[in-house]
Amino acid sequence: MNAPELCANRELLAELSPTVSVETVTPETLAHLLATLNFEHVINELVNQSWSVQPNFWPTWLVEGLQAEARQLHQADEFKPAQVRHAVYTEFQRDQRIRGDQIYWLEQGLPLPFQRAYLCALEQLRQQLNRQLFLGLASLEAHFALYPPNSFYRKHYDRVAQESERIVTVVSYLNADWSVMAGGMLRLYDPEQPEQCIAEVLPHAGTFTCFLSERIPHEVCITDRERLSITGWFRRRDELGEWL
Ligand code: OGA
Ligand code: MN
Repeated sequence: MNAPELCANRELLAELSPTVSVETVTPETLAHLLATLNFEHVINELVNQSWSVQPNFWPTWLVEGLQAEARQLHQADEFKPAQVRHAVYTEFQRDQRIRGDQIYWLEQGLPLPFQRAYLCALEQLRQQLNRQLFLGLASLEAHFALYPPNSFYRKHYDRVAQESERIVTVVSYLNADWSVMAGGMLRLYDPEQPEQCIAEVLPHAGTFTCFLSERIPHEVCITDRERLSITGWFRRRDELGEWL
């Protein structure tokens, strides 16, 4: 990726919030990030236990850049309430008894510089997962999620019948100085005994979590503070789509 591409969205960002200065990611910074990322441990844990939690995984500049981009998009009213599907083949609906976050799909606009850097990093993970585990992951879909105070996402699986091509869930957190008191933990449950909690993850800036979408039931506990994250799913090729 070259410099003009990385800077391509400066105008869009400036339009969203003309008062805020626009940061960019230089090609050197991106190259350094990609060269230093180490997904080995993540992949080993995914193989051995179907989930992995890595505190301090992302560099501060990337987390802060993503946070700033998310805030600007939010201020520009680009986030929309997330929706849930109640039963097979029904429409998606907003239901705050199930989830109360607001989301912004990265694919809906041209990715801003830090989003682009993050997507490049996850592209590296996608290729490594395919090489080592033959998962046949074809693409990533991702959104920012903002949980206002007192919101949550009830226990669920990410891979439901209608979304059978979601294979690996990847979540990164963008909240400085999170404490246990603030709640908002991601709870992962045992695939064999879904009542049994196996991990509690604080949504602290720089933490990277991933798990097998079909295997791990999970929930976002009620949060006291506004909680910002970026969540994505590596998808297998949508086989039905190929025939349509
Ligand atoms: C989701 C989800 C977890 C988190 O968006 O499906 O489970 O910690 N997110 O934000
Ligand atoms: Mn989920």
